[in-house]
Amino acid sequence: MNVYDSDRIKDLLKPLNYQLTDDPAQADLSILNTCHIREKAEQKVYSDLGRLRQHQTNRRQQGDEMLIAVGGCVAQAEGEEILRQAPYVSMVFGPQTYHRLPEMIAQMTRQKDARKGRGAGRGIVDTDFPVESKFDSLPTPQSSSVSAFLSIQEGCDKFCTFCVVPYTRGTEYSRPAGDILQEARRLVELGAKEITLLGQNVNAYHGQAPHLSSHGDQEWGLGRLLHELATIDGLHRLRYMTSHPRDMDQDLIDAHGQIPQLMPFLHLPVQSGSDALLKTMNRKHTAKDYLDIIDRLRKARPDIAFSSDFIIGFPGETQQDHQATLDLVRQVDFAQAYSFKYSVRPGTPAGSMDGQVAETLKTERLYEIQDLLKEQQWAFNKTKVGTVQSVLFDRIGKVPGQILGKTPYMQSVPLEAPKRLLGCLTDVLIKEAYANSMMGIILDSLESISVAA
Ligand code: 5AD
Ligand code: SF4
Repeated sequence: MNVYDSDRIKDLLKPLNYQLTDDPAQADLSILNTCHIREKAEQKVYSDLGRLRQHQTNRRQQGDEMLIAVGGCVAQAEGEEILRQAPYVSMVFGPQTYHRLPEMIAQMTRQKDARKGRGAGRGIVDTDFPVESKFDSLPTPQSSSVSAFLSIQEGCDKFCTFCVVPYTRGTEYSRPAGDILQEARRLVELGAKEITLLGQNVNAYHGQAPHLSSHGDQEWGLGRLLHELATIDGLHRLRYMTSHPRDMDQDLIDAHGQIPQLMPFLHLPVQSGSDALLKTMNRKHTAKDYLDIIDRLRKARPDIAFSSDFIIGFPGETQQDHQATLDLVRQVDFAQAYSFKYSVRPGTPAGSMDGQVAETLKTERLYEIQDLLKEQQWAFNKTKVGTVQSVLFDRIGKVPGQILGKTPYMQSVPLEAPKRLLGCLTDVLIKEAYANSMMGIILDSLESISVAA
C-alpha cells in the first residue's frame, strides 16, 4: 500500500513541477513513506533520515535547499517526536493526510520566504484522521505499471492484539465502487494488464454501489466488485490482498471459481496454528475454521495456491503451540509464505502481555518454520516443471538482459528475452524450478507482435 500511496504522492506533486530523481543528492524534496508494522521497519526511518540530512547539509553548502518530509505510519505514530529527534525535517504527515502535501509545501515555502531564506523554520505536523476521505482529493493516476496497485479499502476495525494498523491507518473505510471502476479503467488505458486490489482488510470491502447498480443493491462486497472489474477490456489479471479469514464470504469464494481473470493465488494470513494463541491474538477464528476456508476455496478453484503470514513467538507461545503452527503448515501446503518474529508494538495489548518469548527461542522457532515453508515453496515450484505457464513480464530483471515476470501463481520467472516482451502475456515452457524462481523457454507471446509493430 505504501507503493500505491507513493505513486499518488508523485501524481500530486507533478503539477508543482516536481519530478522523480534516482539521486537523493539532487533532490529539492525528499519524502520517506514509512512503515510501522514491526520495530525493524521503524528503526530504519531514523537511519534513513540521518543519511538524508547529510545530503541536505551538502546541498545547503552549495546554496541549494532540500526539504525533508516523513509520511506514512511511523509519522502517524510518532508525530511531533520526529521533529524533536530530527529538527531538520520540515513536514510530518500520516497516511490519511498526504493529499494535503501541496498545501504543506506552500506553507513551508512561505515560512522560508518570510525568514529571508534562512531555512524553512519549524516543521509542520499533520496526523489528522479527516472526515472527508483523501481519495476525493487525489488526482487521477498519471501513469501505470503493467502490474498496477489499486487501493479499494483502508484501515482496520479488527484490533488483532499484536497489530498497530488500526491505530495508524485508522478505522475501516471502503471506497465507492464507481470510483474504483473508474480508476481501474484509467490504469488499463495507461497500460496496466494486471491490477492488485489493496486494503489492510481488503475482503472486508463493502463499498457504496454505483447509482445504476443492476440489482438495486446499496453496497457491493469484494466478490461483486471483482465480477465487475473482470468486464474491463484489456484487464487480463486480477488479484487482491490482504485478506482476513473471517471475511472470506461465499460470494468471494465462488468468485474464485467463476472469474477466469482472478488469479489462482491467495495471500491469506493465519498468523498461528494454535487455537489458544489465535484467541489471545483476537483473530476470532480457529485453526479448523481456516482449514475449512482453504478446503472451500480449493473446491471452487482446484489449482489455487496459498500464501500466508505467521507470527512466531507471540506472548505465551509454548512448544505445543509452535507444533500446532507447524501442523497447520503441513496440512495446507503453502506455495509461499512470510514469517516474522513477534515484535512488541507500543500501545498494542500484546506488548504488555505476560509470557514474552525469549529472542533466542523466537529465532530457533522462526528458522524451523522457515525451513518447512521453503521446502514447500520449492516443492510447489517443481510441480510446474514441464508445464506451460502464462507469464506476465512486467519489469527489467537484476541481471543485464533479463526481464522478469510472474506466473498466475505469483512465481517469479526471470528470463533473457527482448524488452519488447514487457507488458506481454507470454507462454513459457517451465524447464527448471528453484526455491524462489523458475526458468523456461518462451513459446509464444500473445501480444508481442502488436507491441513490436
Ligand atoms: N510483530 C510481528 N509481525 C507482525 N505483523 C503485524 N504485526 C506484527 C508484530 N507486532 C505481521 C502479521 C501481518 C503482517 C503484515 O505483519 O503477520 O499479517
Ligand atoms: Fe492488523 Fe490485519 Fe489484524 Fe487488522 S486484521 S489488526 S490489519 S493484522
